[in-house]
Amino acid sequence: MALNITFRQLKVFESAGRHLSYTRTAEELHLSQPAVSMQIKQLEESVGLPLFEQIGKKMFLTTAGREVLVYSQSIGHLLEEVEVVLDELKGGSSGTLAISVATTASHFATRLLADFSKRYENVTISLDITNRKSLQRQLADNLPDLVIMGQPPEGVEVESEAFMVNPLVMIAPTNHSLVNETNIPLKHFEDEHFVVRESGSGTRGAIQRSFDELNVSFHTGIEMSSNEAIKQAVEAGLGLGIVSIHTLELELETKRLAILDVNDFPIQRHWHIVQRSGKRLTPVAQAFKRFVLEEAEKFIRLPNLTTEIV
Ligand code: PGA
Repeated sequence: MALNITFRQLKVFESAGRHLSYTRTAEELHLSQPAVSMQIKQLEESVGLPLFEQIGKKMFLTTAGREVLVYSQSIGHLLEEVEVVLDELKGGSSGTLAISVATTASHFATRLLADFSKRYENVTISLDITNRKSLQRQLADNLPDLVIMGQPPEGVEVESEAFMVNPLVMIAPTNHSLVNETNIPLKHFEDEHFVVRESGSGTRGAIQRSFDELNVSFHTGIEMSSNEAIKQAVEAGLGLGIVSIHTLELELETKRLAILDVNDFPIQRHWHIVQRSGKRLTPVAQAFKRFVLEEAEKFIRLPNLTTEIV
C-alpha cells in the first residue's frame, strides 16, 4: 500500500506531536486552527490509524503517532540538509570570493572583510592589494569577482558604483611652519616637491588632475609605493605629502602628522565597487557587493577632517 501523504502534513504533524496542542502548532506555523486539524485528519486518513488520542483535556500520541513522529522529524532534518546543500551549490553562504583593492583602500578593506566573513563563515576570501594600474589589468583579464578602487578605469567596460567619500588631504610634520595657517592658497606650493606615490597610483593621478585643473604646477619629489612610507617620510621632514584621509587615523590620533588647511582641499574623491560589465557574480559576490554599498559607511570611521595638530 503506497502512502499518500505530503510534506506539509508531516510538518504540521511534527509540530503538533512536539507541542501536543493544535493551538500552539497553529501559532508556530502561522496557520488557523481548523487548517491544522484538517492537515492532521488527512494524514490520519492516509495512515489509516489515529495519531493522537484525547484523554480528559490532554492530548497524547498513539503508538502509531509516536512512530510517525520519529519519521517526520527525520524527514524534516533531511529537508533542512537539502536546503543547505542546494544553498552551497548556489554559492549562497559558502564558496570563494576574490576581491582586489587599491593600495589605499586596504586601510579599510580588511575591516570590511572581517565583518563580512563573520556573517559568511564558510566563505573563503582572497584579498589582493595592488595599485590602480594593476587593478585595471586584473579587470581586463576578468580575474577578481569585485574590485574596490577610486576612479573607475578607462579602457575596460565595467559597472561601478560609488559607496563612500575618499578625501585627499595635504599632510605635514606637526612642527611645520604652515600648521597654524588657514586658507593657504594652493599656489603657495608651486615650488614644493611632494613625497608621492608611484605613477600607477590612483591617488597620484587624482592629485595631478586636480592641480592641472587649478592651473597650479605640481612637482614630485621622492616616489614611494606605500602610503605608510609616505607618512613616515613626511613625518621625518622629507617633504609634504598628499594622501587619502583613510590612511591617517592613527597618525592624527597620536598627533604625529598635521593636515594643512589649503584652499581647494581636500580633493574630493569617492571609492567605487567595480565589476566587469556582464560579469555574472556568484551569490557570495552579490552579497559582498550589497554589504559594501549598504553598510560600508557604518563600519568605517573617517578621521575628522578638521583635526589639526599643533
Ligand atoms: P591607489 O588607489 O592606492 O592606487 O592610489 C587609490 C585609487 O584607486 O584612487
